[in-house]
Amino acid sequence: MTRKGILLAGGTGSRLWPITLGVSKQLLPIYDKPMIYYPISVLMLAGIREIAIITTPEDQPQFQRLLGDGRQWGVSFTWVVQERPEGLAQAYLLTRDFLAGAPSAMCLGDNIFFGHGLPEILHRASGQASGGTVFGYHVSDPERYGVAAFDADGRVTRIVEKPKVPPSSFAITGLYFLDGRAPDIAATIRPSPRGELEIVDVLEHYRAEGSLRVERMGRGFAWLDTGTPGSLLDAGNFVRTLQDRQGMQVGSPDEIAFRQGWIDRAGLERQAQVFGKSSYGAHLAGVLRD
Ligand code: DAU
Repeated sequence: MTRKGILLAGGTGSRLWPITLGVSKQLLPIYDKPMIYYPISVLMLAGIREIAIITTPEDQPQFQRLLGDGRQWGVSFTWVVQERPEGLAQAYLLTRDFLAGAPSAMCLGDNIFFGHGLPEILHRASGQASGGTVFGYHVSDPERYGVAAFDADGRVTRIVEKPKVPPSSFAITGLYFLDGRAPDIAATIRPSPRGELEIVDVLEHYRAEGSLRVERMGRGFAWLDTGTPGSLLDAGNFVRTLQDRQGMQVGSPDEIAFRQGWIDRAGLERQAQVFGKSSYGAHLAGVLRD
């Protein structure tokens, strides 16, 4: 069965208040594009064309205004509401009908990935028919994330959420490739002490049965944090530096759709016109010229 995508873009964004009192975190700018463009690009690079976007009830109209039905990029968006932020694993319960037994790739709406060879590692993960694949990334502050513990042979022995004493420096990023059983497994877990259905409990299920692969994303990759005002600004500056230096876009669903052959020249031309005089529109016009 074809793998489907889930973009989790709900939550309160309370660590960014007051900015996110009036607008969803995942709609904030990362330099010249809305945050959600970046995780959408990741799912598209993985070859995924059917994507469920989960938002709060209040924010859904704004996301729809921004993204439409996906046709402009040759993909289709299914809109799903999460009434309350009751945990990442709840996404699998909310998308059970959408997935209809298919394997999935879920990306958190505030996770930004960049790196040489990203399409290859995404395709590798996507090609695994059973079990799950997640990505471990070396960070200086693992206690803020889900963290993998390894034994002496480098095998994963546990995944823990925000451990006070981290068992390693490898955070588990917010990108999860799971097989078609994910909704059933999510249905068996109970809320944690903080009242959330934790994604790490779903991952622990796969790990315990020996079907979880933890791929390490090495130094050549950037996994950017957008959780605090400072890291949000840093992420924007990072994207700006790369784009200005290379004259290439990071996280452009329009360009990816074109290069994947999901839209044709006329389709990209229309998009370049839509974005008109903005630097993003100019970039798309540049892609057409190349
Ligand atoms: O970013 C990776 C980390 O994401 C992982 O390492 C952790 O294991 C995972 O639990 C998660 O940790 P966070 O503390 O960063 O999760 P946060 O509550 O900030 O939510 C992450 C995103 O998901 C955020 O954009 C809001 C959205 N969200 C969150 C919850 C709890 C929802 O849409 N619905 C929810 O119920």
